[in-house]
Amino acid sequence: MKLFLDSAKVEEIQHALEHWALDGVTTNPRHVAATGKAAVEVYSEIAQLVQGTDVPVSVEVDPELDHWEQIVQQGEELARLSPNFVIKVGASEAGFRAIRELKRRGVRTNATLIFTVVQAWHAARAGADYISPFVGWREEFGDSGLELLGQVRQMLDNFGYRSQIIAAAMRNPRQIAEAALAGCHCVTAGKAVYEQSFNNPFTDLGVRRFAEAYRRTLAPA
Ligand code: E4P
Repeated sequence: MKLFLDSAKVEEIQHALEHWALDGVTTNPRHVAATGKAAVEVYSEIAQLVQGTDVPVSVEVDPELDHWEQIVQQGEELARLSPNFVIKVGASEAGFRAIRELKRRGVRTNATLIFTVVQAWHAARAGADYISPFVGWREEFGDSGLELLGQVRQMLDNFGYRSQIIAAAMRNPRQIAEAALAGCHCVTAGKAVYEQSFNNPFTDLGVRRFAEAYRRTLAPA
């Protein structure tokens, strides 16, 4: 399963590139707004960071665009900023139509705000390169994220659709593990969730126990 970072902060992306063998980046308007900079500046900085790599970076069109031609136009403008950019388009009738057209024009897409198998099926039929089910949001409302991920994977496999699932809106390491077990191709999470995922209290306990023993081996009684 590929590791994507869900962030628009260049220092976080830089860290993940250097230390985590980062496979991809996903941004959204909230991440861009959190940087305090204009989107055009943020996208330019991220484009420079990943220049010369094959790391895909999802950048989102204006979520309120509801005509497919407008989505395509803005998607093409964003795609021209970097060969790494993948255009994030929200699930809707116009969105799926735009994804189909962007595909025809050679622009990669990520169908976002996916909450049902049927939405994922529309995205796959339209030729989305990536499909992003929002696990954390579903679970906040009491629905199973794991169930959705497994069903989307099964739907893709049933028909041989080539879209890759990005398990998105991860809130904890358990959800990352479940995404892997459900056969998701990629997972995207924020820096804090990955940092949590490296550790375990028993690992800390083990380090303390073995460190104490290690010190005794240096000067045996
Ligand atoms: C995924 O691609 C989205 O950017 C992301 O997971 C959105 O959800 P969140 O910001 O609530 O985590």
